[in-house]
Amino acid sequence: TTALISLGSLLLLVCDGSRALPEPQACGVVPEAWRFDCYPERGVVVTRELCEARNCCFIPASSFPPAPGRNGVPWCFYPPGFPSYSLVSVNATDLGQTGTLVKTVKTYYPKDILTLQLELLYETDHRLRVRITDPSESRFEVPIAVPKATEKASSPAYSVELSNEPFGIIVKRTSTGAVLLNTTVAPLFYCDQFLQLSSSLSSQYIYGLGEHRSSFLHDIHWNTLTMWARDVAPTELTNLYGVHPFYLAMDEGGTGTAHGFFLLNSNAMDVVLQPGPAITWRTIGGILDFYVFLGPDPASVIGQYLEVVGYPAMPVYWALGYHLCRWGYGSSNATWDVVKNMRNYGIPQDVQWNDIDYMDRSLDFTFDPTAFSTLPDMVKDLHSHGQRYVMMLDPGISSVQPEGGYWPYDEGLRRGVFINHTDGSTLIGKVWPGLTAFPDFSDDVTHEWWYDNLKRFHDKVPFDGLWIDMNEPSSFVDGSTVGCPDTELENPPYTPGETHTHLSHLTSSHYNMHSLYGLLEAKASARALKRMLGKRAFVISRSTFPSQGQYSGHWLGDNRSHWKDMYTSIAGMLTFNLLGVPLVGADICGFSEQTEEELCVRWTQLGAFYPFTRNHNSIDQKPQDPPAFSPRARSAMKQSLLLRSSLFPLLYTLFHRAHTHGHTVARPLLFEFPKDVRTYGIDRQFLWGKSLMVTPVLDPGVDYVVGYFPQGLWYDYYTGDSIRSKGEELRLKAPLDHINLHLREGAVIPTQRPNTTLFVSSGQPLHLVSSLSEDGSAGGELFWDDGESIDTLETDQYAHVVFTVVKVRSDHYRPGSSDHYRPVRSDHYRPVLRSDQYAPTTTDQYAPT
Ligand code: NOJ
Repeated sequence: TTALISLGSLLLLVCDGSRALPEPQACGVVPEAWRFDCYPERGVVVTRELCEARNCCFIPASSFPPAPGRNGVPWCFYPPGFPSYSLVSVNATDLGQTGTLVKTVKTYYPKDILTLQLELLYETDHRLRVRITDPSESRFEVPIAVPKATEKASSPAYSVELSNEPFGIIVKRTSTGAVLLNTTVAPLFYCDQFLQLSSSLSSQYIYGLGEHRSSFLHDIHWNTLTMWARDVAPTELTNLYGVHPFYLAMDEGGTGTAHGFFLLNSNAMDVVLQPGPAITWRTIGGILDFYVFLGPDPASVIGQYLEVVGYPAMPVYWALGYHLCRWGYGSSNATWDVVKNMRNYGIPQDVQWNDIDYMDRSLDFTFDPTAFSTLPDMVKDLHSHGQRYVMMLDPGISSVQPEGGYWPYDEGLRRGVFINHTDGSTLIGKVWPGLTAFPDFSDDVTHEWWYDNLKRFHDKVPFDGLWIDMNEPSSFVDGSTVGCPDTELENPPYTPGETHTHLSHLTSSHYNMHSLYGLLEAKASARALKRMLGKRAFVISRSTFPSQGQYSGHWLGDNRSHWKDMYTSIAGMLTFNLLGVPLVGADICGFSEQTEEELCVRWTQLGAFYPFTRNHNSIDQKPQDPPAFSPRARSAMKQSLLLRSSLFPLLYTLFHRAHTHGHTVARPLLFEFPKDVRTYGIDRQFLWGKSLMVTPVLDPGVDYVVGYFPQGLWYDYYTGDSIRSKGEELRLKAPLDHINLHLREGAVIPTQRPNTTLFVSSGQPLHLVSSLSEDGSAGGELFWDDGESIDTLETDQYAHVVFTVVKVRSDHYRPGSSDHYRPVRSDHYRPVLRSDQYAPTTTDQYAPT
């Protein structure tokens, strides 16, 4: 049987069944961009012999060698007609369709599942769910709660076509006919430990797929993104701390419409982007369970994705203040001195943190009785100044008995909370305190034990929030202290990139649940804090998974004090806003290596616009808190932090929108200007909400910055001067004490007179800043509550104020007739910085040395 499948300009000849080697001509017709890798195993030099043993096409590619770290055009690729599944029956169901997929020819991976069940669920008009499962045996499914549809979508924005032979799914946008998904481009694999699904992409504009260090817009030139939670300093082309198999993509043709795709799978996987444009999902366990979100605009896609995995929690107000931290203060008094110094200089600080050095011998739930003997007093002092205290906890619980016993371990053993080997003995790894056991946070008994530990420690040190680190989980030994068993799980037929060193300590459930560890620990921590304090929980987690935002924020890990790291933090921040974790920021001034003054000033300015703003430094590095620098640098940092503080009402309101509607807080320009293709790659600028554009300086030794201004009227936030842009790049002045901020026309934003700590009920006066559009109108809102009570929305304990500006007298509005538009110089037509409203001074020019 032959069938002709048209894929854009590409014609593929598809035949079924036989195991003969592909004809050279059949191989030659496949354009390089559409070659799907038939030999993805790393570290293997693929020869013709190896390739043909898989019945694949072998053509050494013209472009060689590939870019460093990239795979390049595969030399061994699936021929047209490579054996795959056939759809043999389809039946209508209440929610969509169900079908049976059958395959007769086994692949070269063990344990092919030859019969599969297909389920199409038309869950809402904008959300399609597809599940492909093994009808004969249940397989691991990700234990996060997702909504269950009860009736079929009545007028879906998508249509689904099924290809029978070979089986494939084609999803189109009904309104435009755009193809959003087409899985007929490469064979489907469904073996016990190798599941693979490929699809065409509708454009090269694809975002999300965390956690990786890259530009915000992914490179589709043979780019493999591995997903497996891993403790590694942010580095390109490797898997990092979190796993988020979700992407947002723009439809073809620059129309501004967008869609999303989410693979609900937590096993180690590779996601390959290739210039087709096409994508391949290659996972080593679980099932194929995915969603397509129809948008149609980028923001709606994110809202629809977060309807599935959960909207982010409303943060406690002080989460949005300035946090100061380092590894290696060395003592509570040294930590306290930093706080006092900040107070002396009048620099805003809401929260002081401690890293592991506060602990006694690196043991969780203890503090060093000598060096940190004054810790409880310091925390009381913080509280009496309206400040908060957060300290680190690592999941590894010391299994070595310190003198006098160690309650967390003894009690944990008694309650059976630790991860075991398959023979039931406790699995022991190694982290800071030495040998450690790892709590199994998937179990409620462990949550209870975690709560009890927190409560006991809180009675000694009344901390306010938690920093959960090393929760990939990270261990300093491969496997456990007794090595690794020689099992199929330890030796999967295919190993996604950089998973091997960590795969080796897996029990069967860890194989599936490894990347969920940070999520489950965050859930246990947030639950415990809420219960203990009766307030919104503050948790910042290093490892993350979809739905994380419900329980914690995230920092971007162990960056370096480099200008490049400051730049890439913007992409990281924007990506986590897409992933439903808006409370995110990078270590300001850089974690490892020594920072420099100019970098630290610029980073503090940018960091003042991270939704989560924390300066954190590694051990053995010189201090990098604001008082550690020259008066000029210090004052520039202070100004940017006061500026942030003055914008707190806006930021808080944006978090309310994230919590209630799944909106982004720090937002890529493309979300507001989706029809402007020039915004698609922008990751040196961003917006807060829809109106406040931030254009930070990201390079050394400059006093200007070039920023892109999408078409429209923009106002300089400090002066009110307007710019009417046609959609152009502009060079802006940027002396060292200045971060460029512009307000888009049509906004009303709430601000507050800044203080050194945030407090919603502090009585600091509120203000409005309005940027009128050319027709004299503007709008905005304020969400306000007590800042810390749980569920104020549900219990009606809040104010929501909507502001609308309309023109009342036509003679007030006189747009300039000259080329350069000047707004009318009256209070009605530009944001006016009143004397009691904070405006940073820009007169004290700073000259970098
Ligand atoms: C690794 C974390 O990423 C870093 O922030 C922390 O300082 C160290 N662990 C020490 O706890």
